[in-house]
Amino acid sequence: MGDYTNMSGYYDLIMTSGYYDYKKIVDGLLVHGPVRDVLEIGCGTGLILEELAKRQHNISITGIDLTQAMLDIAHQRLQTFKSVQLQQQNLTQLSLNQKFDFSFSYGGVWYFVIDGDKEPFLVSHISDHEANVAGFAKLANHMSDDSKLLLGIQGPHFDYAKPISNGMVYSQKIEPNGHGFIKHYYLDDGDKRLMSQTIDYRTYSFKEACDMLGVHGFEYQYKPAPDRQFLVFQKK
Ligand SMILES: C[S@@+](CC[C@H](N)C(=O)[O-])C[C@H]1O[C@@H](n2cnc3c(N)ncnc32)[C@H](O)[C@@H]1O
Repeated sequence: MGDYTNMSGYYDLIMTSGYYDYKKIVDGLLVHGPVRDVLEIGCGTGLILEELAKRQHNISITGIDLTQAMLDIAHQRLQTFKSVQLQQQNLTQLSLNQKFDFSFSYGGVWYFVIDGDKEPFLVSHISDHEANVAGFAKLANHMSDDSKLLLGIQGPHFDYAKPISNGMVYSQKIEPNGHGFIKHYYLDDGDKRLMSQTIDYRTYSFKEACDMLGVHGFEYQYKPAPDRQFLVFQKK
């Protein structure tokens, strides 16, 4: 499972040092609006939800995440936004008393990697196949007809080490395995290792992903756009 407890205390520092561009992500979301009842799956520390709540005042926003330590930070960040609710939930057992017309995951539970002209492939924080199938079913049960599911786009993953804003060094190492890859995340301050975390990711070809989503009526909406941040699936 994609537990982020180890990284949680350093997550914001790493992500806001250039790993993700949260303004651009929310621009990329709102292009596909209008939105009313929004669900983020794998909201982490709430960086996307904060940007969304600041810009959209009349919508209802729900964020779910598996990792309580990430949510604790999100709760603090979002406490003044009455439109935002957060819940600790594993997507594979999602249970909310609500249906949504818009849900998304950016670097969260699922995302797509696009490497140049190659076909996108799906990356899942859930390494077990049956659990992914269960996750799609649970999500579909929480989405209304004609709703949209947006899954974020990232570039290819590779090994690197890079100083972040305070001079500490973030590094990552990728090891392919039988069902996807293992990714190691590290943060070092000089000789001292402050954080290490390992996630076992499962990957799916674009066809496999579309088939899994298609079972629940989600159809891929091909909308090429420069600098697009998400692939869009519409529920019929
Ligand atoms: C890279 S973080 C992304 C957080 C946020 N979307 C952002 O852009 O900053 C991935 C998040 O997905 C969450 N996650 C992984 N597997 C999950 C699952 N099965 N159910 C719910 N959340 C999950 C992790 O706990 C983590 O907080």
